[in-house]
Amino acid sequence: MNDIASAVPAGLLERLRAIVGPKGFVADQDAMAPHLKDWRGLYRGAVPAMLLPASTAEVAAAVKACAEAGVGIVPQGGNTGLVGAAIPHAGRNEILLNLKRMNRVRLLDAADYTITAEAGCILADLQNAAEAADRFFPLSLGAEGSCQIGGNLSTNAGGINVLRYGNARELVLGLEVVLPDGRVWDGLRRLRKDNTGYALKHLFVGAEGTLGIITAAALRLFPRPLETATAFAALRDLDAAIELLAILRAGSGDSVSSFELLPRMAIELCLRHLPNIVDPLPARHDWHALIEFTGTVADGRTKAALEATLETALEKGTIVDAAIAQSEAQANNLWRIRDGLTEAQVHAGANIKHDVSVPVSRTPEFIKRADAALKKIAPGAETLAFGHIGDGNIHYNLCPPPGADLAAFMAKTDRVGAIVYDITAEMEGSFSAEHGIGQLRRAALVKYRSALEVEMMRTLKRSLDPKGLMNPGKVL
Ligand code: FAD
Ligand code: LAC
Ligand code: ZN
Repeated sequence: MNDIASAVPAGLLERLRAIVGPKGFVADQDAMAPHLKDWRGLYRGAVPAMLLPASTAEVAAAVKACAEAGVGIVPQGGNTGLVGAAIPHAGRNEILLNLKRMNRVRLLDAADYTITAEAGCILADLQNAAEAADRFFPLSLGAEGSCQIGGNLSTNAGGINVLRYGNARELVLGLEVVLPDGRVWDGLRRLRKDNTGYALKHLFVGAEGTLGIITAAALRLFPRPLETATAFAALRDLDAAIELLAILRAGSGDSVSSFELLPRMAIELCLRHLPNIVDPLPARHDWHALIEFTGTVADGRTKAALEATLETALEKGTIVDAAIAQSEAQANNLWRIRDGLTEAQVHAGANIKHDVSVPVSRTPEFIKRADAALKKIAPGAETLAFGHIGDGNIHYNLCPPPGADLAAFMAKTDRVGAIVYDITAEMEGSFSAEHGIGQLRRAALVKYRSALEVEMMRTLKRSLDPKGLMNPGKVL
């Protein structure tokens, strides 16, 4: 037994190994290493063991054993989260529990438009399973090749289709959850309508694993889009983004499934750091919208609607240029720029990130106000503001000026955050639109949510997890 193992009560590791079997028990530090640091490299943890249970019964027995021993459990999905929520602490009494072996689709009912899957299903696999049954699961984000549906629900993930289909929360019909004491709540109902008391499932969505472990979910499916039309438009200016969205929504029978903001810097970063990216437009412009229309009738009307609405926007001067993808390769190029941006930023080096939302119509005002305020404390820094502007959600990142002292720049993170969040609060926005709280934004939660809200959250946490052992030290 090493030092880390001696942090948990004697006998617990043997008991856990007996529960999950040798395939489900990892104590080798090298094998665990990728699970003990986060995607951005901000957090590192240490645990004596990682559990990879293969069934709900194994999760329940493991949680019960840890609860009896007073040891914390950190649930983990694909470990793509951006706020350190799935990383255990170093030097604390915690066990990591990753759901990747629980990756079965239990039921796909095409007539009901539902899919019931285990929490460890990779999001892309779930999308493919739906497509194979001529159905559509709309949750889509850059990390979809690695993130798991349990992680998506636990973070209430957003992504690029929220405008049309809602956040992860809107896609859930029922859940199966292992509670902090090891009991299993079977709430896997596939009903559209069910007003039988409190909506318990919603407590676990977005709870970042602090109230229990989601082991399976019943999810909504939709008719599969048979036509997709994708375009990249250069905006007259930032304000034009909101005007353009209105033109597109009104003129398309609300076929807009994605509406993403990209500044010139985003294209430059992707051209520099990602392979085979093509600059979408011949001239340089400050702001762009990446637009996707989808339709479920394959008669060309989706592309025609996109062409017609962009033509209107050009005539009105809302946009100054646009390219409609003429092939899947061209559409993929546009989406690689959008989805590859977070990765390109990693190659580019450190930056200060925020994930905020304001009322949709006020996003340009937010960006301008934040830019102006930050000029004073970080002169020369460039902002990279991009993302889900159709949902009022901006990934507002501050990048160091060329040649800057990186440590000195990053030391401004809290001051910069306070300015950005204060402006967000003044504009009736949220300081964390889709990435959650985790370890990164705990202080902001207490500062920007009301005392009454925080008190209700603490009451909920205490009532479901009185010993505070479910993902300890996260969110609250
Ligand atoms: P993890 O990171 O493993 O865990 C996240 C949280 O959920 C942790 O608190 C963990 O304890 C908890 N958890 C995981 N599984 C369970 C479970 N079964 N039961 C209970 N708790 C659990 N997010 C967006 O919302 N929109 C985006 O557009 C988006 N784009 C991204 C692009 C990239 C390139 C990257 C790297 C990340 C992006 N993210 C985005 C963030 C991230 O992908 C999402 O938060 C995702 O939902 C996390 O899923 P995961 O399986 O990786 O969860
Ligand atoms: C995205 C992540 C950062 O939208 O949420 O790319
Ligand atoms: Zn995002």
